[in-house]
Amino acid sequence: MCGIVGYIGEKEALPILIQGLRRLEYRGYDSAGVALFSDGKIRRARSVGKIDALAEKIGEEKFLGTLGIAHTRWATHGKVTEENAHPHADCTGKFALVHNGIIENYREIKRELGSSHVFSSETDSEILVHLIESFYKEDLKDAVLRALRHVRGTYGLVIIHADHPKELVVARMGSPLAIGLDNGDYFIASDATPILPYTKRVMYLDDGEVAEIKDGELRVSNLRDEAVNKKVEEIEWNEAQAEKQGFSHFMLKEIFDQPTVFEDAIRGRVYLEEGTAHLGGLNMTEEEMRKISKVIFVACGTASYVGLMGKYMFERLAGIPTEVEIASEFRYRDPVIDEHTLVFAISQSGETADTLAAVREAKRRGAKARGIINVVGSTIAREVDGGTYIHAGPELAVASTKAYTNMVAVVLLYALQFGRLRSLSLATGQRTVKALLEIPRKMEEILKKSDEIRLIAEKYKAHKDFLYLGRGINVGVALEGAMKLKEISYIHAEGLPAGEMKHGTNALLSSEFPVFAIMTDNQLYDKVRSNVEEVRARGSKVVLVANEGDAFAEKLGDDVIFIPKTMEMLEPLLNTIPLQLFAYHMAVILGRDVDRPRNLAKSVTVE
Ligand code: AGP
Repeated sequence: MCGIVGYIGEKEALPILIQGLRRLEYRGYDSAGVALFSDGKIRRARSVGKIDALAEKIGEEKFLGTLGIAHTRWATHGKVTEENAHPHADCTGKFALVHNGIIENYREIKRELGSSHVFSSETDSEILVHLIESFYKEDLKDAVLRALRHVRGTYGLVIIHADHPKELVVARMGSPLAIGLDNGDYFIASDATPILPYTKRVMYLDDGEVAEIKDGELRVSNLRDEAVNKKVEEIEWNEAQAEKQGFSHFMLKEIFDQPTVFEDAIRGRVYLEEGTAHLGGLNMTEEEMRKISKVIFVACGTASYVGLMGKYMFERLAGIPTEVEIASEFRYRDPVIDEHTLVFAISQSGETADTLAAVREAKRRGAKARGIINVVGSTIAREVDGGTYIHAGPELAVASTKAYTNMVAVVLLYALQFGRLRSLSLATGQRTVKALLEIPRKMEEILKKSDEIRLIAEKYKAHKDFLYLGRGINVGVALEGAMKLKEISYIHAEGLPAGEMKHGTNALLSSEFPVFAIMTDNQLYDKVRSNVEEVRARGSKVVLVANEGDAFAEKLGDDVIFIPKTMEMLEPLLNTIPLQLFAYHMAVILGRDVDRPRNLAKSVTVE
């Protein structure tokens, strides 16, 4: 999703802005631009394509100056063109603005501004800078405040003006913005990643807040211009954590990070003797927990598949009726919710607009809203009334791997904790904790099969379609396997409960349509086995994920990836890893942009 960078202070701004844009590349973008206060005026450069194209365009032209803003754009309104790229300027060329979000009433505003303004792009963001221009009477922040009172929609914006070389104004409504502070130097960005090389002291703006940085001082107010007291936080992640550490892609590094980050997710949270887990941040008494009559998981994409697994876990271990809702649907339904409904929002970024809206809707309807989030201090994390960080560390590849695994881990810990408060036996609780503690070692064993899995990917590289099948808790694994293949290799893939095949999808089967099936040793093993036999009978090639020692799998599959066995509820923690590796190797073989697949963004902050 679009990324914002800004800087004001004593240093040269251009290198900070360009490096900042590079560190936001993982969010996905199609064009980029910068604007600096240089030689007494605002100088802008914009370009379609990668940051390198922008840097090349600026080339020898020295954009010298200590105040500037920059942006990576992911098109929403208007085509991918240089004119539509940010920063946008007003009619006088004295303002420059970068904006994330969507101005819903931009047509209305454009009409009201009338023919006295000349527009050079198709974007809603350009309307915003002209609106600010129309209110401007020598006070930059005052003009921003007046304009924002007319705006409907979402924004994270940074604006500068040629007559205010020591001032920069930042505002937020629905689109995240962080401000890094370092002895009079201020770094602004959509998330903390570009700020980390300079400072760990960060302030997060909340919705409806405007920050004015002027003459080295920072002042935050609300839209009525009343001062707001803000906390400066210390970021825990260090720069090295965000590096590739010798792996050829962030995605591969993150796949291999899984045994370690999984330990981080469960450390200090599981109790073998008591056969339970304890997640402190839930902010609920045991009595309130016992009274929960329904759990709803709201999430998008990969996180929603974790919700699907959560449904199995909560119903099996805790006996609580559980629903999973795609967040973009939840907000437009009439969900039946009361104060005994517990709504969990699952999100890596903590910024996904649909998930955030679902949280707000759930709270409005009186539910208890809690988060299962990776990014500390993110908007959802701050809006829920409690919850748990999954401790996966920075996940930079667009395709989620280690965050997915840690989401599964935390959901399972919650199911265990609720289960033990209800009717789950001590023996099952202890068995579950014991099995959890064995997971990192088993993950390591699967990771050793990376080369073997690469050879399988090589064999299937010419295929255009794939089907992923699973049953029970592995339906979510099948969906996740298909998602990984689609998003990074651009091969069409579908995930399906294996028992559904005969209701339509069987018609697609042929030697051109290989099938990946999760056939691990659990209560549904025999069912999956007959589904796989049906698939074979129709000519499809079959790749199986099966448990070590399964002689039947050896005979049934064209290719088999053998993995260690674990308890059924824990299977997603292991069974997904071969599918991640298969998708990764396939994408590399096909020469795809593994970490930044086309048309996708890491953090989806628009609806
Ligand atoms: C995962 O590989 C995907 N890129 C995507 O489906 C992602 O899980 C989804 O956009 C939700 O993101 P979140 O976890 O940051 O809310």
